[in-house]
Amino acid sequence: MSAMPAPLPLPYVEDPGPGHGTLPARTWYATSDAARLSLNGTWRFRLSATADAHDDAFAAQSYDPAGWDRIQVPGHWVLQGEGAFGAPAYTNVLYPFPVDPPHVPAGNPTGDHLHTFDLPDDWPTGGDAVVRFDGVESCARVWLNGMELGDFKGSRLAHEFAVGHLLQPSGNVLAVRVHQWSSGSYLEDQDQWWLPGIFRDVTLLHRPWGCASDFFVHASYNHLDHTGTLRVDSDVQGSVSVPELGIDTATGSPVTVPVDPWTAETPRLYDAELITPGERVPLRIGFRTVALDDGLIKVNGRPLLFRGVNRHEFHPRTGRTVDSATMRHDIELMKRHNINAVRTAHYPPHPEFLSLCDELGLWVIDECDLETHGFEEQAWRDNPTDDDRWTPALLDRAQRMVERDKNHPSVIIWSLGNESGRGRGLTAMAEWIRGRDSGRLIHYEGDQECRDTDMYSRMYPPHAEVESIGRGLDGGPARRRQLPLILCEYAHAMGNGPGGLADYQRLFETHERLQGGFVWEWIDHGFAHPALGYAYGGDFGEELHDGHFVCDGLLFPDRTPSPGLIEYKKVVEPVRIEPADAGDGPPSGTVRITNRYDFSDLGHLVFEWSYQVEGETVDTGPLTVPRLLPGDWAEVELPAAPPTTRQDCEQQWTVRALLAAETPWAAREHPVAWGQVPLTVPRSAPAATGSRPHPGNKHITLGPATFDARTGELLTVGRTPVTGLRLDAWRAPTDNDNGAPWQPDVRYGPRWREIGLHRLQHRTSAVELSDEAFTVRTRVAPAGRDIGLRTVYHWTSDGTRLTLAVSVIPEGRWAVPLPRLGLRLGLPASYGTAHWFGGGPGEAYPDTRAASTLGRWRAEVDDLQTPYVFPQENGARPDVRWAQLTGPEAGLRMEGGSPFWFTARRWTTEHLDAATHPTDLEPGDTVWVNLDHRQHGIGSQSCGPGVLPHHQLHAEPTEFTFTFSSLEDA
Ligand code: GAL
Repeated sequence: MSAMPAPLPLPYVEDPGPGHGTLPARTWYATSDAARLSLNGTWRFRLSATADAHDDAFAAQSYDPAGWDRIQVPGHWVLQGEGAFGAPAYTNVLYPFPVDPPHVPAGNPTGDHLHTFDLPDDWPTGGDAVVRFDGVESCARVWLNGMELGDFKGSRLAHEFAVGHLLQPSGNVLAVRVHQWSSGSYLEDQDQWWLPGIFRDVTLLHRPWGCASDFFVHASYNHLDHTGTLRVDSDVQGSVSVPELGIDTATGSPVTVPVDPWTAETPRLYDAELITPGERVPLRIGFRTVALDDGLIKVNGRPLLFRGVNRHEFHPRTGRTVDSATMRHDIELMKRHNINAVRTAHYPPHPEFLSLCDELGLWVIDECDLETHGFEEQAWRDNPTDDDRWTPALLDRAQRMVERDKNHPSVIIWSLGNESGRGRGLTAMAEWIRGRDSGRLIHYEGDQECRDTDMYSRMYPPHAEVESIGRGLDGGPARRRQLPLILCEYAHAMGNGPGGLADYQRLFETHERLQGGFVWEWIDHGFAHPALGYAYGGDFGEELHDGHFVCDGLLFPDRTPSPGLIEYKKVVEPVRIEPADAGDGPPSGTVRITNRYDFSDLGHLVFEWSYQVEGETVDTGPLTVPRLLPGDWAEVELPAAPPTTRQDCEQQWTVRALLAAETPWAAREHPVAWGQVPLTVPRSAPAATGSRPHPGNKHITLGPATFDARTGELLTVGRTPVTGLRLDAWRAPTDNDNGAPWQPDVRYGPRWREIGLHRLQHRTSAVELSDEAFTVRTRVAPAGRDIGLRTVYHWTSDGTRLTLAVSVIPEGRWAVPLPRLGLRLGLPASYGTAHWFGGGPGEAYPDTRAASTLGRWRAEVDDLQTPYVFPQENGARPDVRWAQLTGPEAGLRMEGGSPFWFTARRWTTEHLDAATHPTDLEPGDTVWVNLDHRQHGIGSQSCGPGVLPHHQLHAEPTEFTFTFSSLEDA
């Protein structure tokens, strides 16, 4: 009998365990009186194509790296070296290597990093020292002064090695070999760029004799008697002082005193100090109690409503190396946009981010660095979260997260990870976390039965399902029925959208069990690119990639807010300002104000009214609003007599809530919420009639207009040449129109193209003149199909104005909604300035229009464009009564018979549709204008539900009118 050959021991890169030689995980803090030395800076770097291209000799002190490249630490090597060090690669679900766990490909880019440093002259003698790595992707092996310290995985977690015995006053050589792929990569299949490197700080920390190895700050709040209880546990006996509270107590001893609680709305922190024989550590303590109570997530006794976002760490030049200023900027932007919560998707962020959340006030779901989504491709066979060989690595990740981040009051929920299937490894993580920290709740969306978790969590459920969960009609296991629902992801912010936010918010505000959600996601991960603007998947020649699915944020890559963020700010505003219900009577001058904060009264806000006539503000003044408590509302009278009595035009109140004083995240008078109270209904432009059309040889004239006598085409209005005016139903499909391939429902973008809406043909069947009108009869239809839109253009004029009444009758069976329905026309390129009375200032669509403000607006055509990283329909302004496009000498005024959608751009819809990067869009010699009677909604089908029925545009018999007049000498 021949014995089976013994399997070769797995090299450390492929060993499913977490690593060797690191110190136990412990709390992270930014400063103390112990010495520390940043090892960030320029390091020596050598890239190899395989993990074993070099032996260990490089680690020896004598090794000469003179010929090596240089690299910045922290940093990803693929973003440095101008292409010489490889390139980023993007996949969503698929692993970019064969799924053969725990093995990794032979081609395993490996970066040897070398740094030589001296200790500062005042580096203390005695004690120990550790070298800390805050983040290395994906596996590192470390040597100091030629001695191997160990190896580790867990890219977005901290790892420390004891090094005191190896340090020398000068010429220390720290050598770090980083492998792009390791067994850890199987646990890090998050939807993002694969970016190897030492991407967070490296620090040498002195550990004096008598310092604590670790400590745990427990600071709870009793909302019944308004006291806080503080207990700091430490493995070394010491004391804790909180001067402001008169606390000076021993570690391990609880103290209860009256305090102001910490909440995301009122992030009250108390400066404190932990004093051990060896070290003084400054602490910032926030008192709060997190509980699952009565089936709800409560903090300090009150239920929360999450107005959240999912945040990946991303910078368009440095990837997941994000500096402090950018972290702070992210939080300031969130706070300014009424966001109150962040899920650190899908890994613990740089710890400093959490300190900033403590300081500025955000609820945090801290998520573990775990995703094994690629195993879904094989029906979760061999999934590491259900395989005991991997459990040590999973536990290590849970421990490293909890131990590092446990002292942040902002962190109220631990998340086990994302999209990692189900399995006993996850249960082991949850059990360990519960045992270690009973003061927080546990989240994991993959646990749909809530065996391990404290909340029912879903991603992208349709509105109707959310409503039924809100009503408790969803059934499910008994435990789940007792738990609240959060949407850990919803409203996929890819490209134009997300649509339907307001519809979700209404549900959240109606049903107590629905505790809000987290929009996917905060920022587009587009890399700044010299030729393309921003690069996405495939732009670096990846073999497997998921295109621009990586650009799905509320911010553009440069952190400019996209219209989706403006919409979200409005939808989640913590103060509702709306017309008081006037019953069936005329609109009243009373406004209803509701406090929708979870904790704050309205004392920090001032209110102001303004009054608009035809969209122009004619007067403003302060408004006194009671200091309402959370949940309360009041009806507040606006000034008795509006400052104008003009009756022949539209009039409205606008009320705004502004910050009364500067905060750490916004200036005084920063607008928090607003609402408008219309006093009149929109006026429709009366049709111009009375003038006779005059037939000529080639042309027909009617009032200010000339037409081609043969085709019936409009040629001029006064001095304005017009081209290509015709019915238009096509829009460059948005990411949400196109939808994700896995969506169960029909995806209209591809259907529209299949039917041929992007190639509609226009056939004129009659051109008719009568005494008072000029009529052109057409049929608009795609080749190869029997469906069509019978379209009649009926032109009249009063001599100076020109009215077009369009009637559209669908023929055949239209099984899909229309993208849009209206007119397109071309004007000279010099007509580059738009003025309009309608919704603005930004774009809006039927289900993304909450933030649209009725007013008078002006913008250059170039600035009407929304620069989505992947070009698509954008830039419509809603509720427009009239719009003007003007050039230096003339202009055209366009009025609607009813409010319409106005869009103007320097390229056609077809060009927009064909572009794959904004740099493909070249201005031509025409300004193309769309005047839409209706638009189809946007929805969220790029990863969620489509357009709700009431936001859809169905083909049905329709009539609409536009009136044109020439603005001479404009
Ligand atoms: C979710 C996932 C996210 C992201 C999103 C789509 O399923 O958790 O990481 O992939 O879909 O953008």
